[in-house]
Amino acid sequence: MCGIVGYIGKAQAPKVLINGLRRLEYRGYDSAGLAVMDGNQLAVAKAPGKVAALKDRAHAEWPEERFSRASTGIAHTRWATHGPPTEVNAHPHLDQSGDIALVHNGIIENYRALRARLESKGHQFLSETDTEVLAHLIGECNKGDLFQAVCDALHQVEGTFGIAVLSAREPGRIITARRGSPIVIGVGDGETIIASDASAIVAHTQRVIYLDDNDIAIVTAESVDIRDLNNVPVTREIAELGMDASAAEKGGYDHFMLKEIHEQPDSLGNAIRGRLDLNLGTSVLAGMGTSARELADLNRVVIVGCGTSLHAGLVGEYAFEDLADVNAEVQQAAEFRYRNPIVGSRDLVVAISQSGETADTLAAVREAKQKGAFVMSLCNVVGSTIARETGRGVYLHAGPEISVASTKAFTCQVAVLLMMALKIGRGRRFSRDEGLKLARDIEAIPTLVAKVLEQDERIATIAATYVNNEHAFFIGRGPMYPVALEGALKLKEISYIHAEGYHAAELKHGPIALLVEGTPVVALACDIPGKDKVLGNIEECRARGARILGIITEGDHEAAECMDDFIEVPACHPLVATVPAVVALQLFSYHVARLRGCEIDQPRNLAKSVTVE
Ligand code: G6P
Repeated sequence: MCGIVGYIGKAQAPKVLINGLRRLEYRGYDSAGLAVMDGNQLAVAKAPGKVAALKDRAHAEWPEERFSRASTGIAHTRWATHGPPTEVNAHPHLDQSGDIALVHNGIIENYRALRARLESKGHQFLSETDTEVLAHLIGECNKGDLFQAVCDALHQVEGTFGIAVLSAREPGRIITARRGSPIVIGVGDGETIIASDASAIVAHTQRVIYLDDNDIAIVTAESVDIRDLNNVPVTREIAELGMDASAAEKGGYDHFMLKEIHEQPDSLGNAIRGRLDLNLGTSVLAGMGTSARELADLNRVVIVGCGTSLHAGLVGEYAFEDLADVNAEVQQAAEFRYRNPIVGSRDLVVAISQSGETADTLAAVREAKQKGAFVMSLCNVVGSTIARETGRGVYLHAGPEISVASTKAFTCQVAVLLMMALKIGRGRRFSRDEGLKLARDIEAIPTLVAKVLEQDERIATIAATYVNNEHAFFIGRGPMYPVALEGALKLKEISYIHAEGYHAAELKHGPIALLVEGTPVVALACDIPGKDKVLGNIEECRARGARILGIITEGDHEAAECMDDFIEVPACHPLVATVPAVVALQLFSYHVARLRGCEIDQPRNLAKSVTVE
């Protein structure tokens, strides 16, 4: 949820930390702070609001020499859980002595009990956060060895953490540890960078170490010494990031969201390339690690995810049933482990997560493993926790997604799900020719999306008509039903227009009561099975004064006549059509939000990576 950066090396730490925070700002952006070593003293600056506010605050409060002198520090950008986003609740938090500074992602679940115990020993707390309790606990455990103090404190906490700790008494090192909240360490030339996400590291080095749960590292400018919480050394490989620093830049676009929408022909190309076998009419997804026999024997596919990833899963549900001839169902990851799911050794559980860090999805993965299911993941972030814990699956290769509102990850998730369905379907029902035809349909996805992107200006003009509405409905049937859900989610999260996605047939069972003259209804009316019924549902809405924006198949005059406005997408396979259709809705939402003057890349109250339940 939140972002951590730590730096120790030759450069000016405040500058490096603030630049790193900027790159992580998409993870949480309601307050920020940093602590640096200035000589043998800690200097702390914090500010509510964005990283820019922190930068201004540090420049206003700190002497200029501190910026050039300090070469060690830790920093944080926050998404509030315990206590509102005020300066006092912002990280870093200090221990009672003021000598130890801590930044923390995750939640200390037993913080109330720990706080009461520390208060009874005379500790005084300034904030409402669980993090300050951990800082004090580390201070309480400190008998002159910070590493040991952090180990002792972490033995006492329940919950999740990714932390970086700095002590004025041990200026040449930073202690970092993780349990359930990611920490990546960048190994540079005479400098080491700690971060909760590689995008803060890529400008410094490509060489990284991913900490595992319960790893704790002593980091200096020249070394990374990793142990477990019992002080037993552990070995973690250095990996190559393979990420281009420019991927985390806007590249001339006004917003990351627009850039990522326009990147989709490329990101989809990367997700699909080399994964279709146009000889055998199947897909090659080696990471699935399943034999043809296991796939042929599958009893059921259960897909878990949250938010946009859940919506991709819903498209996948149609794909698995329709193409792979296997029972499929989607469950909200947040519910999965609490409902005692019935999954076993012939069931495939597919966890979908862009970040690979979403707490509920991770918990679902662990539960499915407990039950002995085949578990695999569709993640975008390489080396993420879910990818590592599942051990098999398919990476999306969408490239870094910075905008909080997910776009290119969704379309790559759908493309990969279609390829998975093709692979399973080829073993169960498809002939070579049928498989080949579907493979060609999937191969065409990037071109179909490019055709929608060509209409960007036209979509912006249409969007202008919908800017002043406060409510909107999105309707669809079959695989376009999840597209309606995703379209509504996109619009509400970035424009703050109240938008609801419904199955087109469900509208008349309640929500139609809300339609008044001019209420927008966005109808997924592509020329796929069920279109006639959607056109009927549109008439029901029009009869009540709704303004209809349709997503229709290119050249479909019959559909166009039922609409006030329409956006055309190229004719293609019904499941494949979900991808260009959603791209049209992404652009529509983007332009509505832009015209309403919204902060598109960092919408109110949201975070990119939700590492709390
Ligand atoms: C957050 C993000 C959404 C995302 C969801 C699941 O809510 O704002 O855009 O879809 O988390 O994230 P994941 O990384 O698991 O796909």
